[in-house]
Amino acid sequence: APRRPLSALRGGASVVAVAANGASVETVATLPIDGQRPGTSGVRKRTAVFMEPNYVENLVQAFFDTLGADALAGSTLVVGGDGRFFCAEAAQTVLRMALANGVGRCWVGVGGLIATPAVSALIRERDGGSALCGVVLTASHNPGGADKDFGLKFNVANGGPAPEPVTDAVYERTRTLREYRIAVGTPDVDLSAPGARVLSAGGYSMAVEVLDTTADYAQLAQACFDLPAIGALVKRADFRMVIDAMHGAAGPYLLAVLGALVGCPEDSLVNCTPLPDFGGVHPDPNLTYAPELVRALGLTRDGTPADDADAPRERPLPAFGAACDGDGDRNMILGERFFVTPSDSLAVIAAHAHLLPQFERQGGLRAVARSMPTGGAVDRVAAALGIPCFETPSGWKFFGNLMDAHLRVGSSVRYSPLLCGEESFGTGSDHVREKDGVWAILAWLSILAAHNRGVAEGSLVTVAQIVSSHWATYGRNFYTRHDYEEVSAEQGAALVSRLQAMASGAAPVPTDRPLAPGAPLLESVDEFEYTDPTDGSVSRNQGIRCLFHGGARAVFRLSGTGSVGATVRLYVEKFVPPPSGAPPPPPPVGTPPLREASAELLEPTQRALAPVVQAALALSQLREITGRQAPDVVT
Ligand code: G6P
Ligand code: ZN
Repeated sequence: APRRPLSALRGGASVVAVAANGASVETVATLPIDGQRPGTSGVRKRTAVFMEPNYVENLVQAFFDTLGADALAGSTLVVGGDGRFFCAEAAQTVLRMALANGVGRCWVGVGGLIATPAVSALIRERDGGSALCGVVLTASHNPGGADKDFGLKFNVANGGPAPEPVTDAVYERTRTLREYRIAVGTPDVDLSAPGARVLSAGGYSMAVEVLDTTADYAQLAQACFDLPAIGALVKRADFRMVIDAMHGAAGPYLLAVLGALVGCPEDSLVNCTPLPDFGGVHPDPNLTYAPELVRALGLTRDGTPADDADAPRERPLPAFGAACDGDGDRNMILGERFFVTPSDSLAVIAAHAHLLPQFERQGGLRAVARSMPTGGAVDRVAAALGIPCFETPSGWKFFGNLMDAHLRVGSSVRYSPLLCGEESFGTGSDHVREKDGVWAILAWLSILAAHNRGVAEGSLVTVAQIVSSHWATYGRNFYTRHDYEEVSAEQGAALVSRLQAMASGAAPVPTDRPLAPGAPLLESVDEFEYTDPTDGSVSRNQGIRCLFHGGARAVFRLSGTGSVGATVRLYVEKFVPPPSGAPPPPPPVGTPPLREASAELLEPTQRALAPVVQAALALSQLREITGRQAPDVVT
């Protein structure tokens, strides 16, 4: 069908054109709505807010206006979400608006479902990377439901979240927007099964390709990993695992890759059916919000072995456990009676990267990166490998910038292949421009497979052995994060300004006496600031670091992803070196030899870090300011 020029849509006329079926493309008058500022994770609010009249429409139109009519005309748009409550309705709205804004083709997941990393993969890979951008309907790891959270996020042509200049422009547009364009009177597009559909109204016509996006993702996974090697691992009689999709978007991808391609037993992949309320759980893969999985691996919610972990049981504990969040980009990795912190996970993957086909094919890792609050374990691997290690603010976009550096500053600067990760349970690489939960799980299974190749049944090399051997080789960055959730915004601000005063020199920094029994002396307090090496942009106020003598540190930061009040995060770390005289880290060839860790390296995390935690609480007056005596979440 002929496409009407967009100019026909301007000028205030309400109904622009009516098709034979009665459907029309309309310009609808609206008023700006407050608070539609997207961060890199998009706009995240209570679902009820998104369901208010024009809320989705204004935001999507602001994004379309930012891209511009010329870019949109005839373009391809990816539309999908994590399947939470209101996703399907919002997807239909985006489709109707895409049609009315001149988009030529939409790729939509079956049922409107696409995991966030798969959105990135689709934009980058499908049809030669011909998509212009993506609209992602997710509030990530936040609970879903009519009385919980919804979110809307924009991705751009490189497959990554829209960078700040774009999200700023979208926000500015939401403040002046007076109308949006939408198809009215069209039936809902049938998203129930893959297939080609057409959405048309008022002389406009748009192809809607409903896709089983697990196929595209499975192809990518096959290119990144040696799936038959993982198959050999999961077939061992002494290996059992439980992977929990938390009823989020990762489920179908886990079934497609680990189930169909690798042949994992059915009972090893649990909660793989996406549900609008994630089965009533908080779909955040951590020690607190994935309690069943944590228990199944013989752990308690602080990551230590459960008391009954040694009790006789019918079935041995699983050797491996993992979970993903609502939209499938986060991951948690567990071993039998063993919690792998995201910071250690990143370091262990880095030390084994040469065993992963994805990296090996490209001549090995060229750089690693972690967010500032993430533990420094990976820094030591990078030093051993002689490659750069970047320390960025929290937020995946900073990694994306590094990955695409060569496209901006000339081909001589190349930081990809890049492996990167965050303490917030995000791990990934430049195979996409989002973090990727399934990818992290496959990386860990690959590492386990490599260590167990040729190992006799009954002598399985475990997750605990691999991680403690890593500590014995590189030393251990003891690491924990304590979250104080939903404190008031005022309390959060008071805490930050108290610490900022110390960082700026306006208030004295107590460096002359221990702040808690057994704690090292405080050395300095500063506020983290980052200059992006690829574009020179500066990000300020990215967290307050309290640095102690001997290398321990405590970082305070307010969460940027909450929807109500403030969440205070306290990140605490201390380094214990490998025993003196230990051999240096092995070169990146073959499977690293297993080493025994000393008792000092194996101390329980919370015990090892308690004095630094107490010092940080005393310094910040967190308890006094918030009235909270204990954190809500410990990871
Ligand atoms: C999202 C982003 C991550 C970031 C995290 C920080 O998950 O994608 O890149 O690390 O938020 O969350 P926070 O709540 O600590 O701001
Ligand atoms: Zn997520």
